[in-house]
Amino acid sequence: MSLFTDSIAAATNSIQKQYADNIDYAIILGSGLSELSLDGFQQLARIDYSDIDGLPALTAPSHKGEISIVSNGLKTIALCAGRHHLYEGYSAQQVTTLVYTLAQLGVSELIITNAAGALNPDFRPGDVMLIEDHINFTGHNPVRGQDQSFGILFPDMSEAYNLKRIEQASAAAEKHQVRLHRGVYIGVLGPSLETSAERRMMRRFGADAVGMSTVLESIAANHCGMRVLGLSAITNLALGDKDQQPDTIEEVLENAAMAGQGMKKILNEILS
Ligand code: HPA
Repeated sequence: MSLFTDSIAAATNSIQKQYADNIDYAIILGSGLSELSLDGFQQLARIDYSDIDGLPALTAPSHKGEISIVSNGLKTIALCAGRHHLYEGYSAQQVTTLVYTLAQLGVSELIITNAAGALNPDFRPGDVMLIEDHINFTGHNPVRGQDQSFGILFPDMSEAYNLKRIEQASAAAEKHQVRLHRGVYIGVLGPSLETSAERRMMRRFGADAVGMSTVLESIAANHCGMRVLGLSAITNLALGDKDQQPDTIEEVLENAAMAGQGMKKILNEILS
């Protein structure tokens, strides 16, 4: 047993002590999105991250730090408000402890949400981007050095984001008239924002949105065989033009909440 597997066992045990039944899906709620609620779902349990042994402390601003377990009688979903980031000083394995724990609890599908800057000039703050694929630009990987307790050493990432879910989410957005784009998310280490030259480079690399989370969580989820759907709340332009920095955290949170309303419609449609 390693420190990592010990942490996951401890976290799994803590959650099971507070909620012993099955959990089908989980949603990780990013910056400004923690208020997301699902119509027709009742809360079965609420667990504070600080009561989960083995889970690193939350330090990022505006991350609530609780798991709300909700059910509509057919499906049970863990709404996880708060995540860990590399920029907090955590390792890739600490950042993904929550995801590996959810897999141990039987979660088969993970919906990852985040706040991201727009590299694509067609995007506007408040829009939603469906993540079709990602570029891991962090230089870190949660699978590195693992003992293969959770999956194989070279997990397949060729369909990192589930195609069927992408189509369902697109159809849901069309039905509810949500401004939705599809694109590539590039994950960076942070916490400094990108320079304008970096942003222009990322656009040329083929990325449409940039943020400081998600890619490691997606790798971990794919590593354990979960299906993944990713949604980015576009919070600011990051086109590499002169006047786009600095972005204030207040602005980011406000636009994330606006995009969150669109995300809620999409999630309600695909999860009901
Ligand atoms: N860059 C990186 N991360 C972000 C941004 C951005 O412009 N906006 C929200 N998260």
